[in-house]
Amino acid sequence: TVRENLPSLVEAVVDALEGHLRQRLGEQRPKPLGLATGRTMVPIYGELVARLQRWPADELEHLRRSWCSFNLDEYVGLGAADRRSFAAYMARHLGKPLQLSPQQLHLPDGEATDPEQQAGSYAAQLQSFGGVGVQLLGLGSNGHVGFNEPPCGPEAACRVVALSQSTRQQNAAAFGGDPSQVPSQALTLGLKEILAADEIHLIVTGSAKAEILKALFDSPCTDQLPASWLRNHARVSLWLDQLAVTGE
Ligand code: GLP
Repeated sequence: TVRENLPSLVEAVVDALEGHLRQRLGEQRPKPLGLATGRTMVPIYGELVARLQRWPADELEHLRRSWCSFNLDEYVGLGAADRRSFAAYMARHLGKPLQLSPQQLHLPDGEATDPEQQAGSYAAQLQSFGGVGVQLLGLGSNGHVGFNEPPCGPEAACRVVALSQSTRQQNAAAFGGDPSQVPSQALTLGLKEILAADEIHLIVTGSAKAEILKALFDSPCTDQLPASWLRNHARVSLWLDQLAVTGE
């Protein structure tokens, strides 16, 4: 799906999400939502919250009580009390406005004393819920999804990763613009868990993503471009605004 501008793309993505959430209400044991962070998701969550707040009170209450999501990633060393953490991001954009408890919004614990062990237990916890149903993804400028930096193959599982210089640069804004302040490691679900989702929605917006998006279109599956492995998944939707497609 390509939309002319960002607002109409956000509308279209949230239409799909809202429909999915409504459908989930009728399910006995719905699978967890797979959520992403980053700038791409800010307007998506903003619009989603606005829509949900217009739901009838009983349906919204049901949705709240049954909410269960698993995020892709977190910086090693940062906890929910640090506003630069992804846990704080999720609380800000979804948890607080929808009155969800932190226990409903699962993220890897960036403050775990043993990050490798945390990666294993986070993956096991997700598995105990049956894996991800609908997975939202943004795209890194170097082709990463979650924090699966290139090179990365489809079998890579939840783990601790080193963040590349370019990713630390890309995410520096939240750290006073200084890439050296961005943690050098992160916990991330792997392509393995991502590709095991029932349905994937990759959302790419803005001219800064035009180059990597073009590379993604032109590329076969390769470890050099982790997002290219999504080609092997049967149910992927690609949501683009005009700027991401044309670069202008
Ligand atoms: C970040 C995150 C991803 C995010 C992607 C795109 O580094 N780890 O979850 O989807 O890169 O970020 P943005 O939306 O800010 O461009």
